[in-house]
Amino acid sequence: MEMKTIVPPIKSQGIKTKLVPWIMDVADKAHSNGKWIEPFMGTGVVAFNSGFKEALLNDTNPHIINFYKGIQDGTITPAIVKHYLEKEGKKLLTADDNGYAYFKEVRDRFNKDFSSLDFLFLSRAGFNGMMRFGGKGNWNIPFCKKPNRFNQAYITKIVNQVSKVKSVINNHWIFTNKNFSDIIPVATKDDIIYCDPPYFGRYVDYYNGWTEQDEELLFNLLSETRAKFILSTWHHNDYRDNEMIKKL
Ligand SMILES: C[S@@+](CC[C@H](N)C(=O)[O-])C[C@H]1O[C@@H](n2cnc3c(N)ncnc32)[C@H](O)[C@@H]1O
Repeated sequence: MEMKTIVPPIKSQGIKTKLVPWIMDVADKAHSNGKWIEPFMGTGVVAFNSGFKEALLNDTNPHIINFYKGIQDGTITPAIVKHYLEKEGKKLLTADDNGYAYFKEVRDRFNKDFSSLDFLFLSRAGFNGMMRFGGKGNWNIPFCKKPNRFNQAYITKIVNQVSKVKSVINNHWIFTNKNFSDIIPVATKDDIIYCDPPYFGRYVDYYNGWTEQDEELLFNLLSETRAKFILSTWHHNDYRDNEMIKKL
């Protein structure tokens, strides 16, 4: 029977929701009985569908890590998210300027306090579910232009996503905010590493700078690891090939 993919409450442009069945098909063939490791977890969609009891999930973006740690330690619950989104959604709906004024208020508040709930708000009220940070680590995606964004059906959808994610995260899952080079070397031969790094030569933001040196370091660390690994990357687009594939 085909399983339904667990969809995370936060969004980003690199999200692999549609590739999950394919990635897990490859992972199943590895018959790993160790940990699921993601040095670049992003939204976490792959991990949440991995079925592993033990996981090591890492990202340089602290907001992602704090958000999921909050779900793990119970400071963010479905009830808290519901209450927060109802309250903030009402303010967005009744704000001046078709919601723009309130979106900006939440954005400015997040850029000072970095609250995980405001992070969720921005992720779900930003343009096209994108996540991007400016030169000072400030939220850099504009409003989706929908003042009624947090209607009841949408809130229920997000709250259900929080519940679902909460049900798969257990105490054997570890979330860390480090560079990938601190994560890959800790993998043992029983583990499986899923690597989904920023794509060399594509977009860059505060948490997604990716150089040729990073690409080489990743190559070296994956060459040395005793764990099995899966690497997502890009092959070519309309303009050019990913030269790193040939090089490394
Ligand atoms: C392509 S996204 C991962 C998407 C994820 N697989 C998903 O489905 O949502 C790459 C992630 O790597 C993180 N990242 C960028 N540079 C990093 C580094 N040097 N070490 C660890 N994580 C990094 C970014 O913050 C971003 O979340």
